[in-house]
Amino acid sequence: METTTKNLIAVEKIKQTKIDQVDFDNLAFGSVFSDHMLVCDYKNGAWDAPKILPYGPISLEPSAKIFHYGQSIFEGMKAYKDENNDIWLFRPTDNHKRFNISASRMSMPEISEEYFIEGLKALLKLDQKWIPTAAGSAMYIRPFMFASGKGFHASPADEYKFIIALAPSGAYFSGKVKVLIEESYSRSANGGVGYAKTGGNYAGQFYPTQLAVKKGYDQVIWTDDHAHENIEEAGAMNIFVRIGDTLITGPTSDRILDGITRKSVIAIAEDADIPVEVRKITVTEVVAAAKNGTLKEMFGAGTAAIISPIAAFGYRDTDYELPELEDSYGARFKKVITDIQYNRSEDKFGWRFKV
Ligand code: PLP
Ligand code: COI
Repeated sequence: METTTKNLIAVEKIKQTKIDQVDFDNLAFGSVFSDHMLVCDYKNGAWDAPKILPYGPISLEPSAKIFHYGQSIFEGMKAYKDENNDIWLFRPTDNHKRFNISASRMSMPEISEEYFIEGLKALLKLDQKWIPTAAGSAMYIRPFMFASGKGFHASPADEYKFIIALAPSGAYFSGKVKVLIEESYSRSANGGVGYAKTGGNYAGQFYPTQLAVKKGYDQVIWTDDHAHENIEEAGAMNIFVRIGDTLITGPTSDRILDGITRKSVIAIAEDADIPVEVRKITVTEVVAAAKNGTLKEMFGAGTAAIISPIAAFGYRDTDYELPELEDSYGARFKKVITDIQYNRSEDKFGWRFKV
């Protein structure tokens, strides 16, 4: 799929590039930023045309509503460079749709596909030298929007900023992850904002996650807020479990982020005739399967995490180790997904998008 830029985006270029200061062979996740960012302002009920500016600090009123009432949403995407230096995105219109779903839940204005996708394409073309090519690295893309309008009245702001920033990045996790099944704290509740990619969902999980980190875990696996019995998702990824040869993941709901990697994994599994069940998966079932040896695999799926194998999970002071598999589903899905993303294979699903 390819579209053309209809409106010219005003560009103010950086005076001196910072690219020479970056060690592209040793990139952490999301900690260095490219030369430019896309900025778009919403005021008087409409979005101004996007501009590309040098990446840098922005100035805000202390009363800007983002600081007080947390109106903020974001997306996570990646751009990939192939051997011919062509640039690719993965299902970007799905990110745009989800961004507007989040915007609507947080009483924020939606943004057009043209500004979101064409703005991103223009930014990526300008900063294309920043897209890393070392194995396992990609350009992490962070589109976000927040309430810049001022006032202490607890009501939606009248002004917003939409920004896209680019961070050449390495892996999100350095190896296999160890997770803790959480029983006291909740990430989200029925009727809440769990399905929206809003900042507060992440801030709210920092404290319980820090407690888990102190005990030696990398992430928390959230369970339902009522009985803490159904496995929902992890802090930055959706969760899959393999019992016997069946792949199982929980259904999405208003408590869970509808992950693009998750739905890609389900489609790949169905295409490969792997039995897949999208249904409630209980902690009791997973612990029983771990004890009787039928729990073969658990992994997380997300843009930053790609497919992250889980080495062990903790539940009520006991750790359950997952076996090392030769025929791992997770490794297979990771290969199919990354081969499509980096343009190394056919894309029979139509997910790859040329910049
Ligand atoms: N769940 C949460 C809470 C996330 O932050 C993410 C990451 O975006 C995911 C799941 C996976 O979603 P996606 O595959 O669309 O990146
Ligand atoms: C992503 O996978 O893109 C996310 O948004 C997760 C984030 C918390 C790093």
